[in-house]
Amino acid sequence: MKGKFITFEGCEGSGKSTQIRLLSEKLKERGVDFIVTREPGGSDIAEQIRKIILNPQNTAMCDECEALLYAAARIQHLKEIVVPALSCGKLVICDRYVHSSLAYQGYARGLGEDYVAGVNSLALGEYAPDITLFLNISPKAAFERKHGADKDDRMEQLGLAFHEKVYKGYLAQLEKYPYMRAVECGGTKYDTADRIYKLLSDEGII
Ligand code: TYD
Repeated sequence: MKGKFITFEGCEGSGKSTQIRLLSEKLKERGVDFIVTREPGGSDIAEQIRKIILNPQNTAMCDECEALLYAAARIQHLKEIVVPALSCGKLVICDRYVHSSLAYQGYARGLGEDYVAGVNSLALGEYAPDITLFLNISPKAAFERKHGADKDDRMEQLGLAFHEKVYKGYLAQLEKYPYMRAVECGGTKYDTADRIYKLLSDEGII
């Protein structure tokens, strides 16, 4: 594929959307041809699946169903939005991707890496990202910064102990996937944005 694929990962409130916005501003200034998208969602069908997954009333959803719905939304969004954009040479920036499933469903829900990797094999193989930026801030610090969890989001409601497991899940993945890079989030949001831009330039992504 001709374009480059950048994905952002991190715990709730880690600042992914802010950093994606700051990166987009810089790329626009430079005239780069790019799209910004997100998971779960990013296409009409995947957004419909997102509503089912995040609906706080769906408390009876079992862990396997959750993992498979994330994987279903992912493959639809991948084939409908991401792959066509990459094929015509665009840079694709995606807010969350397969490493969210490994951290949330694989580690924190306890389904295990093999199960989650199995149902996401295309996203880890043929359509693996060129680089995954993990915004490294603990869930406790992140929740304090965003003043608590969102009550309309089933996943955010799961409590700090769950999100600590997610964080550990991410840290474990850093050692395993060489394209996954931790970005330290100390200082201002502009300091973090500068770190991200430098990393992407040094790696020849932008
Ligand atoms: P969202 O509101 O987009 O959260 P954020 O702004 O933090 O990205 O909701 C996505 C939620 O879904 C978030 O809690 C993370 C979770 N998630 C998974 O559990 N597995 C996944 O594969 C993905 C993509 C997201």
